[in-house]
Amino acid sequence: MMKRAYAGTLRREDVGKKISLSGWVQKRRDFGELIFIDVRDRSGICQVVVDRERGADEATTTASKELRTEFVVRIEGEVFERGEGQKNPKMPTGEVELVATHVEILNRAATPPFMIEDETDAAEELRLKYRYLDLRRPALTRNMMLRHKVAFAVRNYMNRQDFLEVETPILGKSTPEGARDYLVPSRVHKGTFYALPQSPQIFKQLCMVAGLERYFQIARCFRDEDLRRDRQPEFTQVDIEASFIDEEFIYSLIEGLFEEVFPIAGIEVKTPFPRMSWHEAVDRFGIDRPDTRFGMELKDITAVAQTIEFEPFRSAAAVRGIVVPNGAALSRKRIDEVTEEAKKLGASGLVWIKFDAQRGSSIKKFLTDATFDSLRQALGAGEGDLALIVAGRLTMVWDVLGQLRLRVAKEQGLIPSEKFDFLWVTNFPLFEWDEQEQRWFARHHPFTSPAVGDIEKLESDPGATMARAYDVVMNGLELGGGSIRINQPEVQARMFRALGISDEDAKERFGFLIEAFRYGAPPHGGIALGLDRIVMLMARAESLRDVIAFPKTARAQDLMNDAPSNVDEKQLDELGIALKK
Ligand code: AMO
Repeated sequence: MMKRAYAGTLRREDVGKKISLSGWVQKRRDFGELIFIDVRDRSGICQVVVDRERGADEATTTASKELRTEFVVRIEGEVFERGEGQKNPKMPTGEVELVATHVEILNRAATPPFMIEDETDAAEELRLKYRYLDLRRPALTRNMMLRHKVAFAVRNYMNRQDFLEVETPILGKSTPEGARDYLVPSRVHKGTFYALPQSPQIFKQLCMVAGLERYFQIARCFRDEDLRRDRQPEFTQVDIEASFIDEEFIYSLIEGLFEEVFPIAGIEVKTPFPRMSWHEAVDRFGIDRPDTRFGMELKDITAVAQTIEFEPFRSAAAVRGIVVPNGAALSRKRIDEVTEEAKKLGASGLVWIKFDAQRGSSIKKFLTDATFDSLRQALGAGEGDLALIVAGRLTMVWDVLGQLRLRVAKEQGLIPSEKFDFLWVTNFPLFEWDEQEQRWFARHHPFTSPAVGDIEKLESDPGATMARAYDVVMNGLELGGGSIRINQPEVQARMFRALGISDEDAKERFGFLIEAFRYGAPPHGGIALGLDRIVMLMARAESLRDVIAFPKTARAQDLMNDAPSNVDEKQLDELGIALKK
């Protein structure tokens, strides 16, 4: 048998080689004596010519005439350079073709429900139902290969840095990371449940108590939360923990990792990454994972705004604005829509001002020449720009303008696509106040260490307690987050108390961890990176679904196998479970 070659790899250097190809029929064009077959395998597509005058025998021609798209074939032949005018510069293999001497049908295929091509207009639901066909599309196949390369590079790098890959349990006990748990009922212990890990957080810390010193894992995590394009109910983390280290160790470890990983997709990584405090991030960008590829930063115009006889400005704790370059050209209709978006996001209204000859504004009658000019100056706006202004509670103002900044910039084409801005966000507050539940929540999780010198504030001033936490952000997406941890049992107990978790409750849920800390827990810390998000950015994909082999929909369903699904009465009986009607 001739040696198999990958179709997508054939080039001019291969001319003269006698090889075989195995794969699927992408397309067949039949000109009678002359038949062209595009053969696709994992590596790409190559053109095959079946020509009676160039060595194809009767059986080969007959088999070729039978071929339909997605038939599985094995073809033997010789690589030739295509004739002038026959070359296709759009295909990597476009300079050559395989002239077939033998064509064998390995299997037949039903007509696929959509064309297996990169440019497809098939609905995503249909593609997810036939995911195994969707994955044959070269773009998705490439994403799978990229994902493999990234995971491989991660393992390589972590191994060189002396990290041990340790597998932690999937059937576990709930670890609070802010989302709902997926629960698994126990048959042996009826009425009790395992929780699928939201992350291996506690186990990796126990690995540090266990003296493993440097742990990592490419870990599957499960979170029952509202899904978005950058969230999946099960996703993969590059999970990392190390002992006897500080923040600087983590920063350079991750910068080194990214320096190896991102170039796989041609993305240059400059280190060290810039760092920005949480406060600076929200103050300038309205969000703690700022997209720093473009300007339109939030401007504090409270002082000027309060000189204007406009009640919402006068009574507001904070007035901030963003400037849309050349935004004065925006239609009234579009500005009204943006106003509606601002209201949906929680603002009571949106003030807009056009800095052009007409000086249009939603508060025109309150503006004098003087206030108009001082606003323009405070906002740093130029001729033809548009200002969008929100007044009210500071956190609301940050949030609304932070979101509008992203939406409007995207729509106006102000975000450069081939730019990759890495950033460390540091100095987070330890807690976040929840208005609805009227209590403090851990901004990262309850195992994060308070900043040096802030431990005393845990009880006296939780809101002012800072954390030894950090996030790594790129282009407005949180790629990872972590912290230096608490390793003193009494500090951990105080942390639980600050979160309103009673001593009893803490003992029941985390007793083993507090107990473990009594036996010489080393100082330790770590981080977890979202592998899916990293691959998504590297693949320049729009959704996590494009880089996960068998993803779930926004409603957490697998359309291919219909999970989640009903189970037999018998199974429920064994588990001691009765369904509520
Ligand atoms: P965190 O909750 O920030 O931290 O998660 C770390 C990273 O995981 C990714 N991620 C997700 N990716 C896809 N779908 C999701 N639903 C999803 N949720 C999170 C993000 C995020 O930055 N135990 C801590 C880490 C630590 O402290 O070491 C943790 O899980 O990229």
